[in-house]
Amino acid sequence: MLLESLKPEVTGILKNEDLSITERLHMVCQLLKNNVEHYDWVGFYFKNGDKEELKLRTYSGIETDHEIIPFGKGICGQVAISNENFVVPDVQAQDNYLSCSINVKSEIVIPLFKNGENIGQIDIDSDTPDPFSEKDERFLEFVNLEVAKIL
Ligand code: SME
Repeated sequence: MLLESLKPEVTGILKNEDLSITERLHMVCQLLKNNVEHYDWVGFYFKNGDKEELKLRTYSGIETDHEIIPFGKGICGQVAISNENFVVPDVQAQDNYLSCSINVKSEIVIPLFKNGENIGQIDIDSDTPDPFSEKDERFLEFVNLEVAKIL
């Protein structure tokens, strides 16, 4: 299946030491956005130093107003605190949600752990309603594990 076939490509990009880490993360964002039909915006947020906020490191998709997200705010800020995957089949049904574009219908955020600490996350927006399954969760957990290895 498609997500499985992307795994070696993700690993290959992340192992390329000729590129900076941010460049490699950007290529992973592009790979996922361009190859998975229901991924319309893909980005990596990380804890911003000692601050209780997330900072957008790199992304593929339209520009967003949400480059900085305080812990607790929006889907991303909630995952920074909960340490758990957050799958949102319908963003309109969420009270605590930060809109990136009116086209977005759904979202998935998977926390990224380094040495057991929640240091960031991968965030994906979709223009399709309710497109995410456990396959996406397992795949994105794999991506984050691979990313953690180079951080
Ligand atoms: N929707 C997110 C904000 C980030 S944008 O999707 C890029 C949220 O509610 O946290």
